[in-house]
Amino acid sequence: LFSAVELAPRDPILGLNDAFNADARPSKVNLGVGVYTNDAGRIPLLRAVSEAEKARVAAATPRGYLPIEGIAAYDQAVQSMLFGNDSALIKAHRIVTVQALGGTGALKIGADFLKRLNPSAQVAISDPSWENHRALFEGAGFAVVNYPYYESATHGVAFDALIAAFESYARGTIVVLHACCHNPTGVDLTTEQWRKVVEVVAARGLVPFLDIAYQGFGDGIDADAAAVRLFADAGVSAFVSSSFSKSFSLYGERVGALSIVTQSADESKHVLSQLKRVIRTNYSTPPTHGGMIVSAILNDSALRAMWEEELGEMRTRIRTMRTSLVEKLRAAGARRDFGFVSAQRGMFSYSGLSAQQVDRLREEFGIYAVGTGRICVAALNTRNIDAVAAAIAAVID
Ligand code: LMR
Repeated sequence: LFSAVELAPRDPILGLNDAFNADARPSKVNLGVGVYTNDAGRIPLLRAVSEAEKARVAAATPRGYLPIEGIAAYDQAVQSMLFGNDSALIKAHRIVTVQALGGTGALKIGADFLKRLNPSAQVAISDPSWENHRALFEGAGFAVVNYPYYESATHGVAFDALIAAFESYARGTIVVLHACCHNPTGVDLTTEQWRKVVEVVAARGLVPFLDIAYQGFGDGIDADAAAVRLFADAGVSAFVSSSFSKSFSLYGERVGALSIVTQSADESKHVLSQLKRVIRTNYSTPPTHGGMIVSAILNDSALRAMWEEELGEMRTRIRTMRTSLVEKLRAAGARRDFGFVSAQRGMFSYSGLSAQQVDRLREEFGIYAVGTGRICVAALNTRNIDAVAAAIAAVID
């Protein structure tokens, strides 16, 4: 049965963890996967999460099945986070939200639903994009193309080319957009640019699929949702995949959601019924723990304030690491100016390192980065940053 099965390639991001774990060098540094670690190099268990967990254990709640669409209070909290407490669309029941297995699970539910809706549509992702976007949409049966995004010469966005590409797409083309903290580049659109994107998407009848996995890591919870809200204000039917993996440091709990903006409360009912079919035939119902914890925190003012403070601390620490890396690279005599790293947002920096330089970082210094040159600045800390800066300076010379 399996004699003809080919060996699949290692996952370009998660596969690095295996290599990192197998590396015996004590000085090794993992700048591969997008995981936030604190100054001690550990994944934090947030105080708000710990408090909510204690209360949950004390309540000794039975573990029955959740509804297919997840915990109602969780789904409502997701909507407020994304669309704002006063969203007219929420009031008009024009948003459908289902709990999902992380942001990836949300993308997959959305992709499977879209495949049923419009099987011949093409999907367009940014160049570059998160590695799993292409694989996930191709896996759901779509042809996937790239739209221009990152311009290495300016470390900015090739915006005119992006708009020209969107204007050339057939109606119904699904455009996958990073709502904030673009993965892998860290380079986001400005609000003005988002307005133009919304206008073109609406005029051309494209289907926006906004991926927001880092809300709160850019400029703040509301500021990072600006793109989602611009689409909502324009009344465009849209998909939004969101994740609490990073913002609650709950990676392994797989806590995400898919939200869909519809044109009416009636459409919402129909859409929800179809999403429930997709979920039921994939994994039946979502898990309880992560959703219960996030829901408890977001629906309790004291816990929410505690969480927002912790999220702010993570955001500030990442910014400090960005500035510090730029300074230390300069001090280490790096021949390039890395000033652009400070302007980037979120966990990642597209460092401009080549695949060969990334190989050298790993082989000679035990520093792991994605082959495209993406480094996770959220994994830098005061203990490893000198070694990282020195190693980068060494491989680029
Ligand atoms: C990343 O890009 O490293 C994260 O989103 C984790 C993942 O699932 O790839």
